[in-house]
Order: sequence, then structure tokens, then C-alpha cells
Amino acid sequence: MREAILKPGKEKKVKNFYPTIYADELAKVPETAGVVRVRSAEGEPLGVGYFAPKIRAAIRVYRFDDGPLDSDFFKTRFQKAQARRLELGLGEAYRLVHGEADGLPGLVVDRFGPVLMVQVRTQSAEALKDRWIPALKAVTGAEVAVCVDTEARRKEGLPVAGGTLWGERPEVLVVEEDGLRFEIPLALAQTKGYYLDQRENRRLFETLIRPGERILDVYSYVGAFTLRAARRGARALAVDKDLAALGVLDTAARRHGLSVDVRAGEALTVLRELVGRGERFHHVLLDPPALAKKPGDVARAKRHLVDLVREALQLAEEGGTLWLSSCSYYLKEADLLEVARRAGADTGTRLIVQRITHQPPDHPWTLQVPETLYLKTVVFEKRPLA
Ligand SMILES: C[S@@+](CC[C@H](N)C(=O)[O-])C[C@H]1O[C@@H](n2cnc3c(N)ncnc32)[C@H](O)[C@@H]1O
Repeated sequence: MREAILKPGKEKKVKNFYPTIYADELAKVPETAGVVRVRSAEGEPLGVGYFAPKIRAAIRVYRFDDGPLDSDFFKTRFQKAQARRLELGLGEAYRLVHGEADGLPGLVVDRFGPVLMVQVRTQSAEALKDRWIPALKAVTGAEVAVCVDTEARRKEGLPVAGGTLWGERPEVLVVEEDGLRFEIPLALAQTKGYYLDQRENRRLFETLIRPGERILDVYSYVGAFTLRAARRGARALAVDKDLAALGVLDTAARRHGLSVDVRAGEALTVLRELVGRGERFHHVLLDPPALAKKPGDVARAKRHLVDLVREALQLAEEGGTLWLSSCSYYLKEADLLEVARRAGADTGTRLIVQRITHQPPDHPWTLQVPETLYLKTVVFEKRPLA
């Protein structure tokens, strides 16, 4: 096996299970891309990974011992991932593989019964396809594996993903969640998927809804929060800029005999209009897309969030709640708290932090790879003293 040698001191992170090695941490590499054994500057073997020249994240380590990266290796990884999810008893829809947290850098797989939605996010995962695809197929027995595109591919110089890894492309992705059914056109599912990571928040949210309450679901996507509120007898308004997503919600609501309101538009603009009309809601949800994709984006993202939260706080009734989420790794829990404090100060709103939640256990978070924790949600209650 070809070898890559680290610079002195860089072995510590690999010994601590961090799988990404950057180009400037390497003293010696092969001339071309391929599987490599990684050694410390002193010659100690540290693991086996894939080397891609020309990108900053030059090596992704797949195993922290010595051995091949063959189909059997991937089969064992997938079997473990599948067994852990089955133990969780999540039914038909769950995240089967969460990248580094499952020892599979660059690979994210969501399972919806017979359909897998697969993100191949790194050059390593792309290059090792012929080894892991047969293993994934054998372990899951899935009928079809659909390729999902993601911005992460662009960072690695990979083209737009589409098509399938195997099987026939379905017309729609059928998602069943706690008795609600969504049929997402495949073109939409291949770019945005379905947000399994909010499942537990949605369950919790549904338990808190009382008949007759008004709910505002901003950044609703296909309205998985909205529909739950509607089936508890609330009047829910879903806001998203994606017309196709709102179309899915509309169809799902009719199928379930539920009534919902939808509004296509830019979130901040719609919030300001609702404030201008003096509207009030018992619960307001703000679940934006990743607003900070790199550290340099954080200050601007926080300013935008303050603008959003300021409007949301004016819309929330006294005793009502605001659910503020961030799926950006760079935008931390502490940032969400600071944003709410600033917006609270601007509007004279006193807030109680009711709960802080994280992504559910089928999206595992490994402490040694901080990037595997990405979804944070803070639930604030608007509670005046008098
Ligand atoms: C993280 S997803 C929301 C997931 C959703 N809450 C759920 O539980 O399925 C973010 C959504 O924000 C929408 N979006 C992105 N930018 C927007 C904007 N400026 N205004 C309104 N919606 C936007 C996207 O279309 C996407 O559906």
C-alpha cells in the first residue's frame, strides 16, 4: 500500500479519531490519488485513508488501524450503522449513515423504506464507490439508491450529482412520519431531501399544541411541523420560498383532510408583513437553511437572525413560544442565545429558555469530530413579569 507521512506533531489528531488531514499537515505524499497508509513523522502506522491531491482536505481516514478499504470493510461499517438504527426503533425513515460519526467520511445515507437517498460529499467517497456501493446494496437490500446533490461536492471539485446508484428512479420520494405522508417530487428530493433531523422536535412540538391556537411555521419546507399542528386542531401558516415544497404540503394536507394556510415568499419580508398587519401566533418556528457556511459568514448570519427574531417576537403572543434552529455547524448554540438576547432587547421582550435540543440519535454526534454536531434548536417562551 502507498504511504503518506505526517509532519511532526500532526499524529495527535489522527490518534484522536479525527479523519480529515489537510495538505499542509503532510510531509510526504504519493504523486497521484489513491488509498494510502498514514504514518506519523516517526513512522508509526495510524490508519488507512484516501489521498486526493489538489484539495485542502487531502486525506480522509476511514480506518484507524491497518487493513484494506475493500467491500468487506464497508459491509461491516454499514452493518453496524444499520444495527444501531434498528435498535432505535425508528420505523421506515431514518438516517442510516451520518458520515464521520459512522466511520464513513463523505457519505450520508437517508433511508425511506425501499429507497435510499445518498449524498456522496467528498472525493474519497466518490473514488471508493466501486467498493462501498455493493456493500450498501447487500446490507440494506434497498430497491433503489438515489443520488442527492449537495454544496459540499463543489468544495471538493465534484460535479452536480443526479441519477441513481442502482435501481429505477422513482417519480416521487414517499415519506411516512408518524402517520403523515408526504410525496416529494424526485427533483425536489434530490436537492433538498426530507429533514429527518427535525423529527423529534416535531414530535415534541405536536404534544404542546392546543386546538384553536395559531402557528407560524417559517422555512416550512413541506410543512412537516405545520401538518402536525393542523392535526391537533391548530390553524397553521407555512411560509417558504420554495413553491414546489409548499405544493407537497398542500397535497398532503388534502389527502389527510386537514386545512392549512401557505404563503410563498422570502421569510423576512413575510414576517414584516405579518407584523404590519398586527397578526399574532401562539408558536412561531424559524428553521432557516445553513446561514453560515464558513467562519467568515457568522457575523452576517447573526445580524440576519436578529432581524428575523425581532419580527418573530412581535408576532408571538405572551406565553407563546419561538423555536429557533440552526443547522449551520458554525452558528452555535451560544450564537442563538445571543441573537435572541439582542432581539429581545430591541423589542423589550423577556424570554425564558424552555429547552435546547440537538439532532436525534440517528444523526450521531461524535465528540472527536465537532462538525458532526450541526443542528441546535432553542425553544424560548415569551414570558413578561407582570
Ligand atoms: C432547513 S429547511 C426547513 C425544514 C423544515 N422546517 C422541516 O421540518 O422539514 C429550510 C427551508 O428554508 C427555505 N428557504 C431558504 N431560504 C429562504 C428564504 N429566504 N425565505 C423563505 N424560505 C427559505 C428552503 O426552501 C427550505 O425549505
